[in-house]
Parts: sequence; C-alpha cells; structure tokens
Amino acid sequence: MKRVLIVGNWKMFKTIPEAVNLVNSIKAGVHKISNCDIVACPPFTALTAVSELVRDSNVDLGAQDMHFETEGAFTGEISPMMLKDVGCRYVILGHSERRAYFKETDELINKKVKAALKYNIVPIVCVGETLEEREAHKAFEVVKKQFDYSLADLDAAAIERVVVAYEPVWAIGTGRTATPEQAEQMHSYIRRLLNEKYGREVAARIKILYGGSVKPDNIELLVSKPNIDGALVGGASIKAESFIQIVKNSLPSEIKSNS
Ligand code: PGA
Repeated sequence: MKRVLIVGNWKMFKTIPEAVNLVNSIKAGVHKISNCDIVACPPFTALTAVSELVRDSNVDLGAQDMHFETEGAFTGEISPMMLKDVGCRYVILGHSERRAYFKETDELINKKVKAALKYNIVPIVCVGETLEEREAHKAFEVVKKQFDYSLADLDAAAIERVVVAYEPVWAIGTGRTATPEQAEQMHSYIRRLLNEKYGREVAARIKILYGGSVKPDNIELLVSKPNIDGALVGGASIKAESFIQIVKNSLPSEIKSNS
C-alpha cells in the first residue's frame, strides 16, 4: 500500500498566533491518521512556535527555503544548521516562486540540496514548466534540465533521501490543476529519469509529489495514479479544514472510513 506524503507550504502567510492556531487545528484533525506523512512548512518567524507544538505529534516540520552555507556573513539568510536547530525535518528547495522572483538557478538549488542532506534534512526539490514552455511543447525538456542540474552529483544513497515535487507553474495558485493524466505523464517521466540514473529499485522508493491547486476534491484522483506519491499544497494548506480534508481524501479507500 502506498504511503502518501502531504506537505503544506504556508508561503508568506501567518503571524505567530495565527500559525499556532492553524497548527493546533491541523493536529487535532489528523491525530488519528497513521498511514500518511504530514508536513507543515510555516514561514521562518513561526518555525520555533510550530516546532514546539508538533513535537510528539504526527505532523512534521519543514521550512520553505534556506542558504547552503552553515553560517557566515549572509545578511537575511537562514542556514541548514539553524533549520536543524529549530527542529525541521524537511525543506522546500527551488520552488518556482524562488526561481522566478529571486532568480534561483538549478546550480544554486543543487548546492542547497547537498547542504540539506549534509544536515539530514529532507529536501523537497521543485521542478515544473511555465505555461509558455508547455504551450511550446517544451515541458519535458525543461523538467529534464531542472532535474539534471538541481539534482546533479547525488549518489543513490543521497537521492533516496530526496523528495521531488512536480509543480507546473501554470497550475500554482491559479485554480487550474493539471489533470491527473497530465500530472501522471510528467511523474512517470521523472520516474523514468530516476530509473535511468539510479536503477529501478532506488527509483521506486523516491517520492514524487504533485503541486499546483491541489484541493480536497482533486487529491484523491491525483494520488490514485501510480507515480503520484503525495502533494505539495499551497493555498489550501493555510486553512485547517481544507488541509485536513486533503490529508483524509489522500488515504487509500480501505482505511479512509476509519479516520
Ligand atoms: P497552490 O500552491 O496549491 O496554491 O497552487 C502550490 C505551491 O506553490 O506549492
């Protein structure tokens, strides 16, 4: 049975009191669920407070970005050591908003991926094409390049600790989701790239998440696809009810009724 991973990317939302309320509600809604991995990625300012609240719960903590150096004169940045210090088990890297607004390159993302692994933090590495690239039939080419360069120089032991997230840019925050078939097509392509580089056994163990307008009513069909192992959720993760419902609807049907 597939064990799904659902990650909430809170982006630049939630003050500390709001984050505390949100995570408390999420915890209450999912505490009985044991067949799914659940991660909340609050903004940096709320990590400490949320970390205290998720300790001893089935919700894990993640951050939304980090620098690749351990420490140094990098005004405004947060290091992997600091994320570890605050209790993060995951970090989102190379999100399309970071790539677009902060000009992050695959080379930079690759340095961050390696730094996260060094600190035993699971990097959730985002790839995905823009609408223009999809319409120009370049989606697969773009994703392959992002895959090759942002995940460069990782051996099998390293790649097994990485989560890949396919997030078509045109589906993020737009209400326009990729159809489960479109998403599966790219996910199976990513799985094939992993197969070619690391072999079938390793490739099969790597989680590939879908992201882009994931909602309670589309998660079930998405995760029913063989190569979709969970979701990276933005907008619907900052409301407890919708996030809880996404987690519940992602469960295999045989256990859904008991949660
Ligand atoms: P969305 O965002 O769910 O609001 O589309 C997804 C993401 O940016 O990770």
